[in-house]
Parts: sequence; C-alpha cells; structure tokens
Amino acid sequence: MSRRAIGIDIGGTGIKGALVDVKKGKLLSERFRFETPKGGTPHGIAETLQDLIDQIPGSDGLPVGICFPSVVKNGVTMSAANVSKQWIGLDADHLFEKELKRTVHVLNDADAAGLAEAKYGAAKNVKGLVVMTTLGTGIGTALIHNGKLIPNAELGHLQIDGVDYESKAAYSAKEREGLTFNQWAKRLQKYYSTLEALLSPDLFIVGGGISKEHESFLPLLKLKTAIVPAENRNSAGILGAAYWAKKHTVD
Ligand code: BGC
Repeated sequence: MSRRAIGIDIGGTGIKGALVDVKKGKLLSERFRFETPKGGTPHGIAETLQDLIDQIPGSDGLPVGICFPSVVKNGVTMSAANVSKQWIGLDADHLFEKELKRTVHVLNDADAAGLAEAKYGAAKNVKGLVVMTTLGTGIGTALIHNGKLIPNAELGHLQIDGVDYESKAAYSAKEREGLTFNQWAKRLQKYYSTLEALLSPDLFIVGGGISKEHESFLPLLKLKTAIVPAENRNSAGILGAAYWAKKHTVD
C-alpha cells in the first residue's frame, strides 16, 4: 500500500502543495507555492492546482487532499469567508476531480491543521478535547476529541461584544490596526476565555504563520487550559490534507 499522497493548502493569497509521506507526516518534496489567482474563483484555482501538481515529482496517479477556508460537507464547499462567493454550494471534490483527473478530497483548512497536530504534532496522544485555532486572515478552528476530528467547527465567527470576533482577534486585525502584541493579546484573552467558558477544553493549540512568534503573545494569556503553539507550522495544512486524502482512498 502506498503511503504517499499530495497535500495542497489553498489560502487567500497563496496555494502551497507537496508530496507527503502520510505515515511519517513528512514532506517528500519541496513545498511549491503559487499565487492564488485574482478573485479566487473555482476555475482559476483549479487551473493553478494543475500547474502546481505538474511541478511535484512522482505525483502521478496519487490522491490529492486539498484544504480550503470554508465549511466542507461531503466535498461541497458550503461557505466562503475571505474567498469568492462562487464557492458556496459548489461540489469542489467533483470540480477538482474533473479538472485534475484523479481522486480528490477537500476539507476545511483549520480541520486539516488540526488533523496534522492530532497525527503528527502537539495533539498526538492527547486525551479529551483539543481546540486547534489558526490565527491568520481569519480565525480557523478545529475540534479534536480523543484524536478524532469533529469537522467544520466555525468558532472564529463567535459573536463577542456584538461583532464577529475574527474581525478583532485574527492576525490580520493586528496587522490592519497596527496593534502591539500587548494590545492584540487583550483581544486574544477575551477570545480564548470565551472558548474556554463554552467548551472546557483540555488543550488549546495555536497555529497560523504568527505562531512562530508565540513567545511574544502566548505568555501574556491567563487561562486555566494549557495553550501551546502548533508543531507543524507552514506545512500543517499540506500534511493534514494529504492525510485526509489517503484516509479516504482505497488502494
Ligand atoms: C472561515 C473558516 C476558515 C478560517 C481560516 C474563517 O473565516 O470561516 O472556514 O477555517 O477562516 O481560514
């Protein structure tokens, strides 16, 4: 049985992908990156995916896992926060399988990052409830219970103080408003305290590019729950997506 799959992470600005050993949770090729085509439309993205896969050596016939910033049910993208509205209600598995002529499985981007942590990272062998959060353009969340993913948690959109709180606490809000780490941490405190009150988790994991600077903000948070940085930084989505594709593919 082959243990290889291709993992692809589609974001608002870039599309990254690589060949993955899903048993070890390791990249077997370099990480290829293409700009997300303007507008982030389904067809534009499908074309870019083909170009990306063509670059990956040894990718012939391998299943492809793709993670994407949307609720995904049975391969259908159900929402579109921070991407083109054309994705709402689209059978993305079908579209990509037609364009790429191979088996494709699409899942939510934070779910992919959460799976990568559960299989190969900070949530490995953790009992109870792990809440994975990714701090980027939006806030992505994944719930992992005893190592199993409960898909499509959209807790980045919690209403706090009357607003969709990802607009206040995502990393993009820090950048947009020029917040210092101290100022941003006050908002993160409010966000994680709310999650803690609602879910009583056993562990919080913080991912997204900014998590490499975790020492500048995680120590500022006062929570009952342990909070740790993700172990799979830039490649979390790729690893989780490849794992998902392999898990759903019969050799
Ligand atoms: C979307 C989620 C996504 C997250 C991170 C949110 O705005 O609603 O589906 O996981 O951003 O990209």
